[in-house]
Amino acid sequence: MAIKKDRKRRKKKTMAKQADKFMLYQQSVQNADHEVEFFEQAFREQYNRKPYTLREDFCGTYAVCCEWVKSSSRRTAIAVDLCSETLVWGTKHNLGKLKKSQQKRVTVLEQDVREKNKPKVDVLAAQNFSFWIFKTRKEVINYFKIARANMNDEAIFVMDMMGGGACQTEDHTDKRTIIKGKRGFKYHWEQARFDPVTSDCSFYINFSFPDGSKLKHAFEYHWRFWTIPEVREMLSEAGFSASHVYWEQEDENGEDTGEWARCESAASQASWIAYIVATA
Ligand SMILES: C[S@@+](CC[C@H](N)C(=O)[O-])C[C@H]1O[C@@H](n2cnc3c(N)ncnc32)[C@H](O)[C@@H]1O
Repeated sequence: MAIKKDRKRRKKKTMAKQADKFMLYQQSVQNADHEVEFFEQAFREQYNRKPYTLREDFCGTYAVCCEWVKSSSRRTAIAVDLCSETLVWGTKHNLGKLKKSQQKRVTVLEQDVREKNKPKVDVLAAQNFSFWIFKTRKEVINYFKIARANMNDEAIFVMDMMGGGACQTEDHTDKRTIIKGKRGFKYHWEQARFDPVTSDCSFYINFSFPDGSKLKHAFEYHWRFWTIPEVREMLSEAGFSASHVYWEQEDENGEDTGEWARCESAASQASWIAYIVATA
């Protein structure tokens, strides 16, 4: 009897083995409704009207496109990524949850972001530092030119950026509890490598579970660590007419408010996240 029980215990899969890495990623990293709100704010501040068309480059599971079409019956979205496994997951778990009338307004393109497509859009988003995959000025400027060609005459290009000395510390992992309790999990952002000569960097996303199991290197990124002034200069060289930096606002106690405002200068922080918004 004891042997039987032991076998059963050994057969039981760990929480890490049972986990769905894309679901964990979405719960930890993405806040699609916040992104949609921000696109709306940045577009309105530039053109004083509502944007209707979105192209999400490096879309992954295209949660933002799905949120976009949910936010207005006039809105359409184009999702672009070259990883078919990720897109298939998004189709099942994000697109699949929408009403049929909403699903029809999302187009999925399994291709490189460096392709020109029609129709052109009001908002082109490249989120989660994804264009950092391009490691030379030549590659970034080439991508920015193509992005601009995919945009309407009145349109914004939205990218997020991170920085601060703490983001460049090697062999450092930040851990956050995403869901508490026995069925919960922790998200780990591992800063594995930063080369001060080339600005090459490697980051990993790991997850850990209450049963002690871990999902190591569920996602990995090997990027160039670009800075805001470099990116703004490259946007200008690619033909964008202007770019604005949006910095998160703090309350009187120095706490982040979740509100974003344009700024031309900011106080140094150990780590920060900001948006760059360029106008076509
Ligand atoms: C950091 S993830 C970002 C996912 C999503 N945008 C987000 O905010 O969470 C980067 C994504 O870019 C895709 N990718 C990388 N290079 C690409 C390229 N040249 N063209 C299209 N997609 C690319 C990867 O397949 C991956 O899904």
